[in-house]
Amino acid sequence: TTTTFKLNSGHEMPAVGLGTWQGKFGSDDSALLKSTIKFALTTGYRFIDTAAVYEVEAEVGQAINESEVPREDIFVVTKLWNTMHDKVEEAFLRSLDTLGLDYLDLYLMHWPMAMDAQRNPLDHPTPAETWLAMESLLKKYPTKLRSIGVSNFSPKTIKDLLAVATIVPAVNQVELHPMLPQFDLVDAFDKLGIRTMAYSPLGQFDSPLLTDPDLLALAAKYNVPIGTLILSWSVLRGVAVIPKSTNKERLVNNISLLPEIAPEDKKAIDELHKKKNMHRRLCQVGNGTRPTGNDIVFGWTY
Ligand code: A2P
Repeated sequence: TTTTFKLNSGHEMPAVGLGTWQGKFGSDDSALLKSTIKFALTTGYRFIDTAAVYEVEAEVGQAINESEVPREDIFVVTKLWNTMHDKVEEAFLRSLDTLGLDYLDLYLMHWPMAMDAQRNPLDHPTPAETWLAMESLLKKYPTKLRSIGVSNFSPKTIKDLLAVATIVPAVNQVELHPMLPQFDLVDAFDKLGIRTMAYSPLGQFDSPLLTDPDLLALAAKYNVPIGTLILSWSVLRGVAVIPKSTNKERLVNNISLLPEIAPEDKKAIDELHKKKNMHRRLCQVGNGTRPTGNDIVFGWTY
């Protein structure tokens, strides 16, 4: 990809990155993960998204370090896990060490919620308190960290954080795809200068998006694979995407996006979620099942 977005921190972030969670990836399949990342870097990816809780930071870092692409040319993101909100500095240094990298491009608070080891939510630190610790990190380690941001924040949860923040998060990473288009959320965060990044931009495994007849017809009209159409729709909205794939052809397709989508076609994709049973989360929440009902994840609602 050649498109990049400028973040409020002054740094440039590619519009398309490679996700490293789930699918066939896992700590039990490190060889596939590493070869996938190396192939992606060879084919033009310059942005890799990971997280401490995915337990693949070692493989991600090895693939980056073993690739021909200079570290400086790659945008690397990892995330603070919920059980480490009271140990932000330790978690950050541990991630950097596991990755085997000298610096991170972006460190995200994975969820606006601290948890104990049993995944029970904790009242403290609050997301705002955790954010202040992340700000301190940026100040203490200017050579090890370039930008900080958040993930899974709503327009409501970001308010409490901004009430105390001296640094505005550069990015908010949320689930976003045509079945969960997040129009209000993207608008609200755009106004705050916070770039939205989409996880599960294709709807994760067995995605109903990929067999939707309206999307398939539109993709045929543009003569592109359906994944390309869906990802283009996000990026043309100014939303960065981190699709994951272990398939070479799809990896290539996912960074070869459309330069434009005609307004009437964009509108058709925008309105897809209004069809029956077409507005819902698709990303699984830890135990391998998709959320049902009220979009509640970790006791928290979009
Ligand atoms: P595969 O690895 O076989 O390509 P998401 O990033 O939304 O979580 O979705 C990832 C899922 O979608 C994976 O199961 C991946 O499978 C599949 N996938 C990735 N890119 C495409 C694409 N361009 N077209 C169809 N399926 C895709």
